[in-house]
Amino acid sequence: MSNAGKMPKEEGIDHSVSLIREGYMYILNKRRSFNSDIFETRLLGKKAICMGGKEAAELFYDSEKFKRKDAAPNRVIQTLFGKNGVQALDGQAHKHRKEMFMSIMSPKELSRLTDITKKQWALAATRWAQEDQVTLYEEAKEILLRTACEWAGVPVQESEIKNLTSYFGAMFESAGAIGPKHWMGRNARNQAEEWMQELIDNVRLGTITPPENTALYRFSWHRELDGNLLETEVAAVEVINIVRPIVAIAIFINFITLALHHYPEERKKLQAGDEKYAEMFIQEVRRYYPFFPFVTALVKKDFIWNGYQFEKGTLTLLDLYGTNHDPEIWDNPDVFNPARFSNWQESPFGFIPQGGGDYVGGHRCAGEWVTIEIMKVSLNFLLNQMTYEIPDQDLSYSMVNIPSIPRSKIVIENVKLKI
Ligand code: HEM
Repeated sequence: MSNAGKMPKEEGIDHSVSLIREGYMYILNKRRSFNSDIFETRLLGKKAICMGGKEAAELFYDSEKFKRKDAAPNRVIQTLFGKNGVQALDGQAHKHRKEMFMSIMSPKELSRLTDITKKQWALAATRWAQEDQVTLYEEAKEILLRTACEWAGVPVQESEIKNLTSYFGAMFESAGAIGPKHWMGRNARNQAEEWMQELIDNVRLGTITPPENTALYRFSWHRELDGNLLETEVAAVEVINIVRPIVAIAIFINFITLALHHYPEERKKLQAGDEKYAEMFIQEVRRYYPFFPFVTALVKKDFIWNGYQFEKGTLTLLDLYGTNHDPEIWDNPDVFNPARFSNWQESPFGFIPQGGGDYVGGHRCAGEWVTIEIMKVSLNFLLNQMTYEIPDQDLSYSMVNIPSIPRSKIVIENVKLKI
C-alpha cells in the first residue's frame, strides 16, 4: 500500500539555518524527533529529503534511483570538489573515471605509500624534537602534503611547501564555510588548479616525466570514453582529488591523538595488542568522530520506496555521521569502543564515514584504503616511535563547524624519538 504524502515533514519555508546551526547533528536530531529514518524538509529554498540508517544508505547508493550531476551545492564545487570531477559523474562516464582512480590503489602502490608516510613522519618528528612545541594539525598537513605529492609523482620545490599546504588545507577547511573563509577556499582552489594544470601541460609536453604508476602520469594520459585525453582543467581537478583528501587525513590524525589522550586505557591495550587491535581502533576513530556530515544526490526518476514517494529532481541527503551513530546498527553508539569491531558484521551500508556501497560501480570514497594505511602508520608513530606531552589547551571540538577539528589543533611538546 502506498504511503505517498505521509513522509514526516519539517514545516516551514526553509531550514538551511537549522542545518548550519545544528551541523553534524541536524539530520540525526530530526530523525530522532520524528522517530523516522526519513523526513522531508526545505533546504536552499528547495524541497529536500533527508535520510539515514542502513536501509536508507542502500537506497541512496542505488544508481538507478539517484544521480550526482548537479547535486552538490556550488560553494562545495568552488572549494572542495572542483568542476567536472568524478564526484559529479554518473553511469558509464563515472565508472570509467572511477576505474582511473582505483587503478592506483593496488596493494603495491599502497605499500609504496606506507613507506613514504613512514619516512615523512620520521623526518618531521626529528625536527619537532628540536622545538619547544608544535601544533600537530598544521604539522600533519605538511607531512601529508609531502607524502601525497611524492606518492602522486607531483614534483614540489621546498620553497612551495608552505603555500601548497595552506592551499590544500583551505580547500577542505572551507567546505562548510560562508563569508571570508569561503572566499579563502575559492582562492586556494584557483591557485592549486593553476599550479596543477601547468604540471599536467608539462607532463604532456614531456618536460616532466613522473613514474608511470603515479596519479600525475596516469591522469595526464587517461583517455575519456570518446578516446580523447581529459581536458587539462579536469585532469588537474582529479590529481587534486588525490592530494587534497590525503592532506585532510590530518583531521583524523588529530582525532587519533585526541582518542589516545582521552582514553589512556586504549593506549595500554594498543601497546599490548596486535595489528588487529590497531585496525579496530582506527575504525572506531573513523566511526566515532565527526568528519563528513552527509552526502547529496538528486532523485533520478519518480519511484516509491517503503510507501514513500520520491519525485524526480528532489535533493536527497544521506546522513553519514548519523548512520555511524545509529543505535539500530551500533550498541551504545556514543561510547568510544574499538572492541565493537572485533566481531563486526561488515556491511557496505552500516559503517559509512567515507560513503557506502561499491567503489567502482558507485561513489564510495576512492581513498578509503589510503586513509586507513596512513592512519595506521600515524598511530604507530604516535604510540611506539615517539613520546610527547599535551599541555593544557582547549581540546574540545565542535559538532557544528564542518569540518570539525579540535579547537587547539593539538599542541604537543617535549617530543622525543624512541628510535
Ligand atoms: C580524509 C579522510 C577522508 C574522508 C572522511 C573521505 C570521505 C569521502 C566521502 C564522504 C566521499 C563521498 C562519497 C559519496 O559521494 O557517496 C568521498 C569521495 C571521494 N574520495 Fe574520499 N575521503 C577521505 C580521504 C580520501 C583520500 C585519501 C582520497 C584519495 C587518495 C579520497 C578520494 C576520494 C574521491 C576521488 C572521491 C569521489 C568518489 C566518487 O565520486 O566516485 N578520499 N570521500
